[in-house]
Amino acid sequence: MTPQPGTAAYQFAGKTILITGGAGDIGRAVAHRFASNGAGIILWDLNETKQSLVAAGLSDYKVPIASMPCDVTNLEAVQKAFDEAVSRSGRIDYVFNNAGYQGAFATTENYPEDDFRKVIEINVIGVFNVLKVAANYLKQQGDGAIVNTASYAGVVGPANMLAYGASKFAVIGMTQTAAKDLAPHKIRVNALSPALIGPGYMWTRQTELQAAVGSQYFDSDPKVVEQQMIQSVPMRRLGTLEEVANGVAFLMSEEASYITGFNLEITGGQ
Ligand SMILES: NC(=O)c1ccc[n+]([C@@H]2O[C@H](COP(=O)([O-])OP(=O)(O)OC[C@H]3O[C@@H](n4cnc5c(N)ncnc54)[C@H](O)[C@@H]3O)[C@@H](O)[C@H]2O)c1
Repeated sequence: MTPQPGTAAYQFAGKTILITGGAGDIGRAVAHRFASNGAGIILWDLNETKQSLVAAGLSDYKVPIASMPCDVTNLEAVQKAFDEAVSRSGRIDYVFNNAGYQGAFATTENYPEDDFRKVIEINVIGVFNVLKVAANYLKQQGDGAIVNTASYAGVVGPANMLAYGASKFAVIGMTQTAAKDLAPHKIRVNALSPALIGPGYMWTRQTELQAAVGSQYFDSDPKVVEQQMIQSVPMRRLGTLEEVANGVAFLMSEEASYITGFNLEITGGQ
């Protein structure tokens, strides 16, 4: 995956990016984008097998690559993995705080409590853990940039996704506060809010599960749901994984040196 024609080739040579959710679609696309611009890559995910395949796919870029298991919901594990990552790479310049889970699709009165807790655990506590550990490290280092993956679901609450919407509103809130707290230490913190991105795991999962809810908003056929969703986008298409990676590259780069506490919406005009 090389940068798309017309995309800026930011100079990340000699820099290192830590990517959580490194086995997932967006984590993989961001890893390719940064590796192609010269950055070393550290991947963290629960899914070690899938993540190893992502790491293997980066070998042509001839940059340092590390694939590490890490459960972001465990603060102790995050601290340990961060220390190990620093000892392997020498320094970490960018943290892409991206691991996430979509949760169940159900109307509010039916939303399962255990799943609500799970979504909050991964998307809120997990983001908090990585933010806290990264902030301590980057503060000592004296500079750095963090991008937290929120979602357009954190801007406008989506139907049938009570926990996911709540968790992503929280990510945008944490981003704004952390940006203020860390600005004096030359650390920028921004959020990224993709809307309908695909093809990919989350796109397929959401069209299937929205169809199964039986709500007034979506048809019961996932293929029809796909069209209903695409019709809600002014640009009438899905965003690509590479377009999401472009946003991360911009926010981490020096081109965004005076931008912090911002939520970059990647929505095709929604
Ligand atoms: N794909 C989209 O359409 C879309 C849109 C908006 C926001 N997002 C957000 O982007 C991020 C990445 O999504 P994606 O599309 O790549 O999804 P994905 O499911 O392909 O990747 C998510 C990754 O997070 C990992 N993960 C889950 N829990 C974890 C934990 N406790 N510790 C470590 N890793 C864990 C999973 O194993 C998975 O590899 C998520 O935060 C998601 O909410 C995605």
